[in-house]
This record gives sequence, structure tokens and C-alpha cells, in this order.
Amino acid sequence: MLGLYTVILNHKLKLMTLTASSIGRKVAMALSGIFLVLFLTQHFSINLLSVFSESLFNEVSHFMGNNPLVQFVLQPVLIFGVLFHFIMGFILEFQNAKSRTVKYSNYKGSANASWMSRNMIYSGIVILSFLGLHFYDFWVPEMKYKYVEVLPLNPDRYFEELVHKFESPVRVGLYVLSFVFLSLHLLHGFSSSFQSVGVNNKYSKSIKTFTKAFSIIVPLGFVFIALFHHLNAF
Ligand code: HEM
Repeated sequence: MLGLYTVILNHKLKLMTLTASSIGRKVAMALSGIFLVLFLTQHFSINLLSVFSESLFNEVSHFMGNNPLVQFVLQPVLIFGVLFHFIMGFILEFQNAKSRTVKYSNYKGSANASWMSRNMIYSGIVILSFLGLHFYDFWVPEMKYKYVEVLPLNPDRYFEELVHKFESPVRVGLYVLSFVFLSLHLLHGFSSSFQSVGVNNKYSKSIKTFTKAFSIIVPLGFVFIALFHHLNAF
């Protein structure tokens, strides 16, 4: 009898640890996602300046590109945040796939979850591919300029560099397509992140409305910036 109790207790403990760790991973995923949304907000605000004022955009970009706190503290934290979010995303997806085939015989796909929530991994992969192209376009040349070729500081170069990148219709097309996937990813991810960290109060409905609006407006804004510079190049 005692043996049976020990087996049941062990089994229960195992289940609790598993759940706690997968809940922990979901919370970590949500927190890193919210952190990336904060980055996205500041990135969007700075890029939007390029539409209104060339000199202001250059000034802010020069500050961001040369301030030691931004360069040597915030930038590594951001890169860590991006990697963390993607690696955790793949781990969670792998675990979910495993539990779908093994544990949940009543898993009915679309009956239990929205299309987007089941396909976060695919929109995530599109965004990851976009980031590869985006880093190649902006981040790599910037690192080369500053730290490899060590060219002279030129506070007026940022706007020109940005506009030049949006001349190619193929690149603009790829960017716009990626922003559509970014919107789909955020529509599920951003709104469910507050649930994952346990926010459940009288503001929950307003938070949901805000996150949904953000998920549409910000990617649309990025589309606008890309098209604006593309069309202005001719
Ligand atoms: C029209 C849209 C966009 C424009 C014009 C743009 C522009 C830029 C520029 C100019 C940089 C270089 C910053 C530097 O000097 O280091 C940059 C970096 C970066 N962008 Fe974007 N971006 C756009 C959209 C996005 C989106 C949608 C994301 C995320 C999904 C993103 C993520 C990043 C990241 C992670 C970096 C590296 C930041 C750093 O290391 O400081 N960008 N972007």
C-alpha cells in the first residue's frame, strides 16, 4: 500500500515539476516578448522621424549609434532578448508538438485554438528570416563602419543610408511581407502575453484592445515608412 502511495506521489510530483517548468517557460516567453515590444516601440518612433525630418532622424540615430550606454549595454541586452525569445519559442513549440501527439488525444487543432496561436512558430520563423536580412542591411554595415574600417564619425550619413536601402522593390516587398507576419505574430503573442504573466483584472479588456490595436498600427506604420522612402526615391 505504502509502495502504491509512493508511486502516485512521485508521479504527481513529476507532473507538477513539468507543469511548473513549462509555465515558467511560457512566462519567460511572455516577458521577453513584452521586452521586444518595448524595443519595437522605440525603434518605430525613431524610424518614423525619418519621414518627417531628415536632420532629427540623423541626430537621434547618431546619438543611438554612439552613446556608450546604448552601444555596450542596451544593444547586447537587446540581442540577448531576441535570441532568448527565439530559442525559447522553438523549445516551447517542440514541447507542445510532443504533448499533442502523446498526451492529448482530444487535441482537435482548430477547435481548441485559433489558427494564429497554432502557427506562432511559422510567423516567428518569417520574422527571424526578416531579421537576418535586416541585420545584413543595417546592423552589419554599421558595425563594419564603426569597428572594422573605423571610418570618421559622420552624423549626417544615417538618412542617406536608410533611403538607399529602400530603393530596391524586391527588398521593400520582402520587408512589407515580413511586417504582415509581424502583425499576425503580435496579434496573438502580444495580447496573450499579459494573460501568461497572470494579469487578470478589470483592465484586462482594455489591455486586450490596446495590444490588438498596437499589433495592427505599428506594423502598418513600418509598411508606411518602407513605402514612403521607396516612392520618394524616384
Ligand atoms: C521600415 C522599417 C524599419 C526600418 C527603416 C528599420 C531601420 C533600422 C536601422 C536603420 C537599424 C540600424 C541601427 C543601428 O545603427 O545599429 C536597425 C536595426 C535593427 N532593427 Fe530595424 N528597421 C525597421 C523595422 C524593424 C522591425 C519590424 C524589427 C523587428 C521585428 C526591427 C529590428 C531591428 C533590430 C533588432 C535592429 C538591431 C538594433 C541594434 O542592434 O541596435 N527593425 N533597423
